[in-house]
Amino acid sequence: MRQVTLVAFLQAQNCTNLASSWRHPDSRTDTWSPDYYRHIGRVLEHGKFHLGFFDDRLSMPDMYGRNHAHTVQHGIRCVKMDAVTVLTVMGMATERLGLGATYSTSYYEPFHVARLFATLDLMTEGRAAWNVVTSLNDGEAQNMGHDEVVEHDLRYDRADEFMEVVFGHWDTWEDDAIVQDQATGLFAHPEKVHRLDHEGRFFRSRGPFTVPRSAQGHPVIIQAGQSGRGIRFGALWGDLIFVVYPNMAVAQREYAAFKEVVAGYGRDPQQVIITQLINAVPAATRTEAEDKWAVIAKLPLEVDALSLLSEALNFDFATKGMDEPFTDEEMASMSGLQTLRDRVVRASGIKNPTARDFIHFSGRGRVHDPIVGGPKEVADRLEQWFVERACDGFVVSATHVPGAYEDFVRFVVPELQRRGLFRTDYAGKTLRENLGLPVPQVGAWRRTRAMAR
Ligand SMILES: Cc1cc2nc3c(=O)[nH]c(=O)nc-3n(C[C@H](O)[C@H](O)[C@H](O)COP(=O)(O)O)c2cc1C
Repeated sequence: MRQVTLVAFLQAQNCTNLASSWRHPDSRTDTWSPDYYRHIGRVLEHGKFHLGFFDDRLSMPDMYGRNHAHTVQHGIRCVKMDAVTVLTVMGMATERLGLGATYSTSYYEPFHVARLFATLDLMTEGRAAWNVVTSLNDGEAQNMGHDEVVEHDLRYDRADEFMEVVFGHWDTWEDDAIVQDQATGLFAHPEKVHRLDHEGRFFRSRGPFTVPRSAQGHPVIIQAGQSGRGIRFGALWGDLIFVVYPNMAVAQREYAAFKEVVAGYGRDPQQVIITQLINAVPAATRTEAEDKWAVIAKLPLEVDALSLLSEALNFDFATKGMDEPFTDEEMASMSGLQTLRDRVVRASGIKNPTARDFIHFSGRGRVHDPIVGGPKEVADRLEQWFVERACDGFVVSATHVPGAYEDFVRFVVPELQRRGLFRTDYAGKTLRENLGLPVPQVGAWRRTRAMAR
C-alpha cells in the first residue's frame, strides 16, 4: 500500500530554515555540538522518519549590502558546517534513519563526491542520500576560487555530466566482484572491476573507483530543481524529489506532469518519490498550537528577509529603496533562484515588484503558510495532499529545534499512523528498503540517460 514519506529538513547551522529560530526560547543554543545532532537523530528515528536531510550553501549570506556584518549580528545562517561530517555523527546515534546531505556539483571533482558518498553509504550500512544541487550565488563562487556563479542552464549541463562520472564510478565494482578467498589468494575478479575513462566537455576522470558498492547499491539521489531545466534533471537522476507547490490545484497538475517526464525517460514513476515542503506548528489542541505560533510569529526581522532574498537571488537588495520597483534589467539580472523571482511575479501579479513585494510574496525569512493546529487539523491537511495525489510525502521544516520535531513526532505521526497513512516501523535496514526503492542495477542509468538526450 502507498504510504506517506517523511523527511526532516535539517541544517548544520546556528538556526533552522527559519533564520530567527535561534531566538526562540526553546531552541537549543549548542547547535555546533555533536549532542545536538544526536538528539535530533534520535527524535526522528523514534518518529520513524525516512530520513533527515541537511541543506548546504558554501558561503554566509553576505550579498545584502555586500557585507556580512548584519548576518553575524542577527545570526542569519552565519554558521554553516560541513553536512557530511555532521551526518556521520547522526548516523552513529541512529540505526535506521536515512541520512541525506547536500553537495554541490559546481565546485568539486565528481570523483571526490562519488567517493565521499559511497564511503558514507558503507559506514552507515546503506542509509546515505545525496541532495544534488548547482550552486547559485557569487559568494559561493568566490569562496571556491571563482569570480561569479555560472549561468543557470549551463550549471545543469555541467551537473548532468557530473552525474555521469559519479554514476559511472559507482558502477565500477560489479556486485559479485569481491571474492576475498584467503585460501586461493583471490581478492576480486579483475574482469569485474572496471575503469571509467571519462573524457567529456567539463570533466576527465579515469578510475577505477576505489570504493565497492553498498548494501543499497549506491546512495539515494535527492533533487529539488523547480525550473524546466531543473525538473528534467531531477526526473532523470532523482529518487526523491523536493517540491514547493503553492496550492493543491497546481500541485496535482505539476505532480502528474513530473511523473510523466519520469515515465518519458523510461523510468518507473512510482519509483520517484515527490515530497512537498511544509511548515507545521502542531500541539495537543488547536488553542495550544495557536499559542505556540504566537511566539514564533514574533521572531523574524525585516533584515532576515532582505538578507536571504539577496543571497538566494544573487542580487543586492540594499541598492534599492523598499518601495522602489525593480527595473526590467534588474529583474533579469537576478541570476540565483530564478524560480523564486518568477513565483513572486506570479503571486503578486506585479511585473516590477518592490523589495517590500518580494518580502511579502516570497515568505523568505518567515514561516511560509504554516499549518497550525492539533493532530487532527495537521493530519487532515497532509492526508488530503497525499490521497489526492498532490505529493507522495513531506519535507518537514522546523520553526525551532528540537521542539518542532518533538511536537511533530508526538502529535502528528501517531495520528497519521492511526489513519494507516504512515508506517509504524521501518521496513528494513537500508534507506532504499525503507523508501520502497529497489537496489539500482549496475549500468541501468545509461539507458535512461540515452533516452533523455
Ligand atoms: C526543500 C528544498 C531544499 C533545497 N536545498 C538546497 C540546498 O541545500 N542548497 C542549494 O543550493 N539549493 C537548495 N535547494 C534549491 C534547489 O536545488 C533548486 O536550485 C531550486 O529549487 C531552484 O530550481 P532550479 O535550480 O531548477 O532553478 C533546495 C530546494 C528545496 C525545495
